[in-house]
Amino acid sequence: MSYLIINGPNLNALGHRDASHYGTLPLAAIQERLQQRAAELGVEVAFFQSNWEGALIDHLQKHGPVAQGIIINPGAFTHYSIALRDALADLQTPIVEVHLSNIHAREEFRRRSVTAEVARGQVSGLGWYGYLLALEYLVRLNASALG
Ligand code: DQA
Repeated sequence: MSYLIINGPNLNALGHRDASHYGTLPLAAIQERLQQRAAELGVEVAFFQSNWEGALIDHLQKHGPVAQGIIINPGAFTHYSIALRDALADLQTPIVEVHLSNIHAREEFRRRSVTAEVARGQVSGLGWYGYLLALEYLVRLNASALG
């Protein structure tokens, strides 16, 4: 059993995207940090990134039900994908949504997240460190260390 770390469209391009919003680290470097933290916490992580809505949904349907937790940055799908939201809502697995940038401090259309509404919570604006915080939260949640 593992924690799924899922990234949506354009997050494979991190490192080349606007650094003022997304920082300078490529996705591989963020995943390396997560892998390291997971080892310290004694848990397994499994990474997946796709630019395709259907591929994200297929992945969630296949691996979501048996995962210990899901950390997802749905990229722009956050703001309008009802299909992705429905796939997340169908899972009992705890979900944390992560955004590198603070989506509440940007354009109006980014402020709404249709996916966060079916997640435990959202970490937004803390850069790559948000993924680590989400992992830490889910591990503690599963250890029943949180009420
Ligand atoms: C993002 C925020 C989204 O609005 C945007 O479309 C992204 C990245 C973030 O991590 O800050 O691609 O999810």
